[in-house]
Amino acid sequence: MLDKLVILGGERLEGEIRISGAKNAALPILAATLLADEPVIIRNLPHLHDITTMIELLGCMGIDLTIDERLGIEVNANTIQSFTAPYELVKTMRASILVLGPLLARFGQAQVSFPGGCAIGSRPVDLHIKGLKALGAELDVQDGYINARSNGRLKGAHIFMDTVTVGGTENVLMAAVLAEGQTVIENAAREPEVVDLANCLVAMGAQISGIGSDTLVIDGVERLHGCDYTIMPDRIETGTYLVAAAATRGHVKLKDTDPEVMEAVLMKLKEAGADITTGKDWIELDMHGCRPKAVNIRTAPYPAFPTDMQAQFTAMNAVAEGTATVTETVFENRLIQTHEMNRMGAKISIEGNMAIVEGQEHLKGAPVMATDLRASASLVIAGLVAHGQTLVDRIYHIDRGYECIEEKLQQLGANIRRLPE
Ligand code: UD1
Repeated sequence: MLDKLVILGGERLEGEIRISGAKNAALPILAATLLADEPVIIRNLPHLHDITTMIELLGCMGIDLTIDERLGIEVNANTIQSFTAPYELVKTMRASILVLGPLLARFGQAQVSFPGGCAIGSRPVDLHIKGLKALGAELDVQDGYINARSNGRLKGAHIFMDTVTVGGTENVLMAAVLAEGQTVIENAAREPEVVDLANCLVAMGAQISGIGSDTLVIDGVERLHGCDYTIMPDRIETGTYLVAAAATRGHVKLKDTDPEVMEAVLMKLKEAGADITTGKDWIELDMHGCRPKAVNIRTAPYPAFPTDMQAQFTAMNAVAEGTATVTETVFENRLIQTHEMNRMGAKISIEGNMAIVEGQEHLKGAPVMATDLRASASLVIAGLVAHGQTLVDRIYHIDRGYECIEEKLQQLGANIRRLPE
């Protein structure tokens, strides 16, 4: 559990790797399997801790699961016996809250442990609760649990989301597909993972229009059937390897990915001096051996620049030519990794929700500690460009979101290995 990564920096990343299925699409889609009254097959699941936790959560509710060795799973929710997401699982993964909407919609009851705060801010779930209440559910919070009930079917409603929330949109969407009548979700999140979930629900027989826009219109149906669905490629994993290659002045080709959902990130990489070529399911990045140029970043909901790529770009800016600002508007407290990077010789100062990054010629390897998933990835990137050895501690954060990170980086020529506890 407390493995470390040892990185000897200085190698340019070069070569080809395959991108895994998207964690943030797989999590809601696994929760959505609760809605179908026939077995559902999900393919291209990434092999990650968070996915194992969600599978464990379904398993502990008594749901029948058949996992094959090729990243596929068959889920039969008809065998359900318990409607509870216990504290022990929710505390390790906030996304457990995504079972709330489906359980309520199909079984009329759910008890989900209240997710606490986390390293990147307080992260409330008030909009999930408000949206489900608007659909006619009764919800209260008692002894750390959200207790939810519905008398008969949920009822369609007109819902306006105060803030763009990915998880909130997903929870309400999954509840609305089985509600009686029409639901309209305004100011809905447009993230590609929300689109993937909606497409999977449609494959199960749901009636949803406006997919990919900020207004989702859902005509509730009485039941959903089985389907066979393949998860989209992980755009954050894709972006992370592209940035790692840019920071090390390298040349990589990523396969089984989707350039269409990467516009904001690819534009910033081009601005940093990368030569980028794309095909239907691949992206190639070539720095022609040059140092990246510093680029200003401002995070916001899709299609703007993703908060989940902010830390990685901050790492690249730390070694880039020039000074840049990185502004985080989605989460509070999401610039904390910069302190660890400064210990490696980066020159980053924080003013409110903005980091000012003065690019340095070199970073020096150092022992550093991972604090959250994407922050850990940024420390790995810093380690790849630094002179000497970097030891990244607490990499269980990385294993939550990056499949075989050291194997993939080794394949690209990096000098990286895992030290077991
Ligand atoms: C998802 C992603 C996460 C990503 C984030 C933003 C998953 C499993 N995780 O997280 O990787 O960084 O989207 O793209 O898909 N908020 C409220 N009330 C709520 C819900 C959210 O105020 O009820 C606020 C949050 O505090 C935050 C903002 O809305 O400031 C966006 O959060 P949200 O989109 O909900 O993030 P997650 O779905 O948790």
